[in-house]
Amino acid sequence: MEIKLRKENENDYKSVFQLVEKAFEKEEYSDHKEQFLVEKLRKSEVFIPELSIVAKVENKIVGHILLTKLEIKNDSKTFESLALAPVSVLPEFQGKGVGSKLILYSHKVAKELGYKSIILLGHENYYPRFGYELTNKYGIEMPFDVPAENCMVITLTENGLSGVNGKVVYPAEFFE
Ligand SMILES: CC(C)(COP(=O)(O)OP(=O)(O)OC[C@H]1O[C@@H](n2cnc3c(N)ncnc32)[C@H](O)[C@@H]1OP(=O)(O)O)[C@@H](O)C(=O)NCCC(=O)NCCS
Repeated sequence: MEIKLRKENENDYKSVFQLVEKAFEKEEYSDHKEQFLVEKLRKSEVFIPELSIVAKVENKIVGHILLTKLEIKNDSKTFESLALAPVSVLPEFQGKGVGSKLILYSHKVAKELGYKSIILLGHENYYPRFGYELTNKYGIEMPFDVPAENCMVITLTENGLSGVNGKVVYPAEFFE
């Protein structure tokens, strides 16, 4: 199965909406509104077009990933970082490597754009394989009341998190 990745464009919006909806349909922890979150984030200031990426198999969009800007703030400094949310693969294409490809490719593009880290809230068994570590190792605090093992961060460059600590400030769209 050949998986092709590219930047999302306007013609993909409808397919992406439907695929995000389907991907999360049976997820227990989900509020089933991730497809609307994607729509809101696209229109917001934190949107980076290059970091909305689709995966295609035989001309069908089967996966999508979105990384948007966020900040890590402490009393004296503000650091730029990215939020990975959401990543979605059509149920019938899950477990075939699409999610992994999207995640790794998004890291590459983010790094090329000069970003140094990515933050996410996710499954403790899935993301460590890509190099994600717990945020509390770095003194990075999430604004949600969630288990520590689900709060993760990756550095895209050597020492990308050196001196970085504080509270993560997610874009307002995540709370609307
Ligand atoms: C999570 C998701 C993006 C992974 O994409 P994928 O294409 O299925 O994943 P891959 O094929 O690259 O990787 C498969 C591996 O991920 C694991 N995996 C998939 N979904 C998982 C989940 N929800 N929790 C833990 N591990 C998961 C599989 O067990 C498999 O592990 P293995 O390699 O040890 O067998 C996809 O399953 C999905 O869309 N899920 C529903 C939406 C969701 O939960 N998104 C993530 C939260 S933002």
